[in-house]
Amino acid sequence: SKCPPTSPATCRQNPRWGAANTALVRWLPAEYEDGESEPKGWNPERLHNGFQLPPARTVSREIMTSASKWKDDSYSQLLVDWGQYISHDITLTPQSTSTDGSDVDCLKTCENVHPCFPIKMNDGLQGCMPFFRSTSDCFVNFQSGIRQALQRQQLNAMTSFIDASAVYGHNQKLESFLRDLPGRNGKLAVNARFKDPKGRPYLPFVTKLPSACHQDLQGERVECFSAGDNRVSEGLPLTSLHTLWLREHNRIAEALKHINGHWSPEMIYQETRKIIGALHQIITLRDYAPKIIGPESFKHYIGPYRGYDPSVDPSIANVFAAAAFRFGHATISPILCRLNESFQEDERFPHLRLHNTLFSPWRIVKEGQCTHMRMETNNTSLVLDTLKQMDLAALNLQRGRDHGLPGKILAESQICHSNAIRLSSSYQSDSNHSTPCLKKQTKKTHIICPSLCQQTVFLTSASSIGSCSNKVKEVLVDNYMVHGPVH
Ligand code: HEM
Repeated sequence: SKCPPTSPATCRQNPRWGAANTALVRWLPAEYEDGESEPKGWNPERLHNGFQLPPARTVSREIMTSASKWKDDSYSQLLVDWGQYISHDITLTPQSTSTDGSDVDCLKTCENVHPCFPIKMNDGLQGCMPFFRSTSDCFVNFQSGIRQALQRQQLNAMTSFIDASAVYGHNQKLESFLRDLPGRNGKLAVNARFKDPKGRPYLPFVTKLPSACHQDLQGERVECFSAGDNRVSEGLPLTSLHTLWLREHNRIAEALKHINGHWSPEMIYQETRKIIGALHQIITLRDYAPKIIGPESFKHYIGPYRGYDPSVDPSIANVFAAAAFRFGHATISPILCRLNESFQEDERFPHLRLHNTLFSPWRIVKEGQCTHMRMETNNTSLVLDTLKQMDLAALNLQRGRDHGLPGKILAESQICHSNAIRLSSSYQSDSNHSTPCLKKQTKKTHIICPSLCQQTVFLTSASSIGSCSNKVKEVLVDNYMVHGPVH
């Protein structure tokens, strides 16, 4: 084809569709308190359907908690990890900084002043949890009605396609930084300081030092890693997956060079990248998605790939990034298991509580990677307990309000008709043991928290993704367009 290999997107009819740094699309118009940009809850006194909106923290503590613990032996921890990893390939909603035309420090203030929308800690803890509003898009959509055209929209900084942009980056500067250009071998750059005991490479460190990652108090510093997505050091399984892809790229590049001695470094890099992108698509569509929405829903709503359709806008939907795909937060285990060769707890490096795994890449370098991962217990409330300063459920709720997600967007809406959808067995058991809110709603409509959680969608069950899967299908299926069909 005539497409320049470095920017295949330019060959598409609508090159902006699904491109990095374009607006998240809306399925329904946003609902803001002032109609245009202020989130619900901005003025706490304001009534919604005759009631004050409960603070996100209250909803998080009173509704999003569960006393029960359960075991899920059907799938490994990797199902959760892949979800997080692939969500980072397709969504990153950039947040405003305190310097966006304001003197307020969002890390300190407890007031709602743009761009800060702090979460009040009204449960004995002092102060507020900082919250930066998502950056707004400047683009005005004149094709919509005037009211909608003026509404605040949010951005997706990543490409919407499953294209391994978490490995290669989503702009040329980052892409070049991540490549081993001097090596002239089509490979990715590796860490210059550390290797694993078997000589296998780690990801390179970030350039801005010292980085913010936690450190082992003894010995050398281990900085945050860099990869195509800047959240790479957020957790150990996530970092492990990024590391695996770095190694896989370099392994395939070497093999291709071996059998195609005449190929240029650029050719090796681009061909390897295509293979890695295709592997991301295969794993997501063949192995991941059917387990999440259930094989029947997958067959019904997604089915086999039928070819590239240029009329479909594959951009990630606002409700997908800010709500639906965050269902994964309810599947996070409070404990990260570190097992030995016999699948027993490793004596030297025992299991870790979740908060000890965050932003701690030193553990990968000094304690080794989690080669054996297995799902143990799962409990939403522990997410809250372990992440005291990062109440993920409250953040999700607040983010939904920040984005003006319509409260009932998933319920009885034009989009999702979920009654027909059956949960996959593993997620059925999840919902049986989950929050009262979740239970009640899944029984009735298979949709989590439309009204109970007060106008804000926090989680959607696997089934509601299934029910929205025409849209999901568009998003997923269109990912083939860059690399062509995958068998
Ligand atoms: C230990 C595991 C995880 C941690 C600590 C974590 C943490 C976070 C945090 C802090 C945010 C930003 C919240 C905000 O300010 O709005 C976020 C966003 C998000 N998370 Fe997770 N997450 C984890 C696992 C997962 C999983 C398993 C999934 C899906 C299966 C997932 C999907 C998402 C999505 C889609 C977003 C929105 C991304 C964006 O558009 O910026 N996460 N997560």
